[in-house]
Amino acid sequence: MARDSRELCHLTSDAAKVPISGVERPAKGRCAALPKIVSLFSGAGGLDLGFKEVGYSIAVAIDSGDAPIRTHRRNFPRTKAIVGDLTELQPAGVLQHVKEKLAANQRIGVIGGPPCQGFSRANTNSHASDPRNELPALYLEIVRELQRTYIVEFLVFENVLGIRDRKHADTYKALVDGMTGLGFDVCAKELCATDFGVPQYRRRIVLLGMRRGQGYPPVRPRKRKGVETVRQAIGTLGAPAFFEYGLLAEDIPVHPNHWTMRPKSARFINPEGHSGDGRSFKRLSWNAPSPTIAFGHREIHVHPSGRRRLSIYEAMLLQGFPEAYVIEGNLSEQVTQISNAVPPPLARSVASAVKLALNRG
Ligand SMILES: C[S@@+](CC[C@H](N)C(=O)[O-])C[C@H]1O[C@@H](n2cnc3c(N)ncnc32)[C@H](O)[C@@H]1O
Repeated sequence: MARDSRELCHLTSDAAKVPISGVERPAKGRCAALPKIVSLFSGAGGLDLGFKEVGYSIAVAIDSGDAPIRTHRRNFPRTKAIVGDLTELQPAGVLQHVKEKLAANQRIGVIGGPPCQGFSRANTNSHASDPRNELPALYLEIVRELQRTYIVEFLVFENVLGIRDRKHADTYKALVDGMTGLGFDVCAKELCATDFGVPQYRRRIVLLGMRRGQGYPPVRPRKRKGVETVRQAIGTLGAPAFFEYGLLAEDIPVHPNHWTMRPKSARFINPEGHSGDGRSFKRLSWNAPSPTIAFGHREIHVHPSGRRRLSIYEAMLLQGFPEAYVIEGNLSEQVTQISNAVPPPLARSVASAVKLALNRG
């Protein structure tokens, strides 16, 4: 079973209070409108969905991928969703986009998780000089730029546990120190999806930064019960469609994402003759949570029947996405988006805990 979530807080004294300009704070005990969300590296919107579900409005979402932004637009039609490479946009370009959506001096929250492959333990070649590892520093620069025009009330930074490994110690320290230096009290939480009603072992680190000097209590995401096994999540679903050129979403049964690769290997004809635990043929057990949904292009986990791989829709349900959610793109783009996503129920607990802290400040 999952261990308890672990936490490490980097609190500083109230001496370094950050002044508020142009914004009225509500009287103690009264709830202000929630800060609007600026989502960086938004992907398919798993993290954003958790925030939306507890009442935040996702104002702006930016991702370099065309398919993730099409997914975002489909599921968050009121958000200004932008295809943009943040390294090219630079902080000034992000600020420009945000200004087109939000008037100056508003309270905002900045959320996001840059690509994790550079920090992933599954990537045995990961090294400190991977250029993707510069993205946390860019995240900080963007926050700094946004602070010139907005009241950044909180930060959420999500990533894989590997970001805290020794070889990435400098990056991690710079991230925490950077958040602290920008005026936030920072807390690191190690969370596992199984503790949030998601039938999947998926551990992530979430750095939470609350604006210093506002009297916000510690943010403590509450564990919750929910779906516990693969069977509960996908046990009643019928067969999916198999990929073929020209297949239309309308031809796919049940849900537009209920499709997968056509099973070609002999292992799918005689599944019992194989162990089912290889990297490329990881077969799920009906009565347990799924291993981490993080598929290489041709390594989608094998359905418990052993006869085929999971469909994208099944992977979405194992990530805790609601049935109405739809992921856009071709099959391989959908595989990437679902592998990258934060399970929405885990995100919802984080969002809800931040909301509680904001209302008690
Ligand atoms: C870990 S995923 C984000 C997942 C998302 N938080 C969710 O819950 O669905 C990281 C995303 O960063 C995007 N990305 C990578 N490099 C980028 C860049 N330079 N600028 C903008 N987005 C980038 C990728 O396309 C990917 O969708």
